[in-house]
Amino acid sequence: MRFETKAIHSGAHPDEATGAIAPPIHLSTTFERTADARPLHGFGYVRDENPTQERLEDALAAIDSGAAALAFGSGMAAATAIVQSLPRGAHVLLPDDSYYGVRVLATDFFESWGLTYDLVAMQDLDAVRRALKQETKLIWTESPSNPLMTIVDLAALASLAHERGALFGVDNTFATPALQRPIELGADLVLHSTTKYLGGHSDVQGGGVAFARRDAFYERVLHTRSTTGGVASPFNSWLVLRGIRSLAARMRVHCENARALAAFLEGNARVGAVHYPGLASHPGHEIAKRQMSDFGGMVSFRVRGGRDAAIAVAGKTNVFIRATSLGGTESLIEHRASSEGPATRTPDDLLRMSVGLEHVDDLIADLEQALR
Ligand SMILES: Cc1ncc(COP(=O)(O)O)c(C=O)c1O
Repeated sequence: MRFETKAIHSGAHPDEATGAIAPPIHLSTTFERTADARPLHGFGYVRDENPTQERLEDALAAIDSGAAALAFGSGMAAATAIVQSLPRGAHVLLPDDSYYGVRVLATDFFESWGLTYDLVAMQDLDAVRRALKQETKLIWTESPSNPLMTIVDLAALASLAHERGALFGVDNTFATPALQRPIELGADLVLHSTTKYLGGHSDVQGGGVAFARRDAFYERVLHTRSTTGGVASPFNSWLVLRGIRSLAARMRVHCENARALAAFLEGNARVGAVHYPGLASHPGHEIAKRQMSDFGGMVSFRVRGGRDAAIAVAGKTNVFIRATSLGGTESLIEHRASSEGPATRTPDDLLRMSVGLEHVDDLIADLEQALR
């Protein structure tokens, strides 16, 4: 089956009890056992498993070409469960422009969990080779990255990780499985903040991890989730599942609108640089063409004149709403360094946009007047 069909039909069997096409939301926290103490229908307690969450996991595995998937209460709960499932003493390679929250996880928590890490510019494969250590157990990357839209070669990084016996994990939140499926390129793990495009409507927080194999590491992450409790609620699982049904169609418009806005910005004299992998000028354009079917709905750009000029541009938009996060139907713009806070490494003249599904002419007109 093609992606669009899988996204609509996975985890979507009609309800056995009623024939309902829309899946039921099972809110029960506990499930009946037989007289000899076995779970009657395979479910025990909501922190371990739940029928609605299980449907979401079937869909997450199918759309990412994985063998299994796990649903979490947020993208950060998912990332945390992955690193907490590594053995004590493990070394992790992270991209030098990874999502801010993942970097904070490393700087503020890894040491107390017995983990070490290095930040590397992962578009430079030699730098990655040099940073690998005997005890490296995980290469973690993002492509496109948040917020600089860096593209890294996923197949090459997968080979480097596997040569050293390390796992290769990809945060695929920006691209979504509609445009990029890292497991098909050799990744072992794929993470999504389902709060973003998979949910798709800025009304649910969630995380998901797809696994290339249902193996010992999958079991370990499941055990971490069941014990530490970062699981998705049934209602949130249901909302993300509903979002996945329209993901392919939404992504087409996100990509189309973002492409047009990136081209507009590239021609604007007040804009210093546009970071969008669909532009031929983007340093990762050729790799992105190889590993993505389209370039996504996220665009960032630098405003000539520095921090105050950038904030002033965002301050003048009327259609773009000033807010963090991404992947909803509405267009958002943010001064990224302000959202990230004091430990930010983001250039202070950078604005990040989540390009929504509005008419593209309205979006261009809005940016045009804000930049004037
Ligand atoms: C690329 C990326 N990964 C992970 C996360 C964390 O997800 P959540 O906010 O659902 O915990 C985010 C959130 O913005 C993100 O942008």
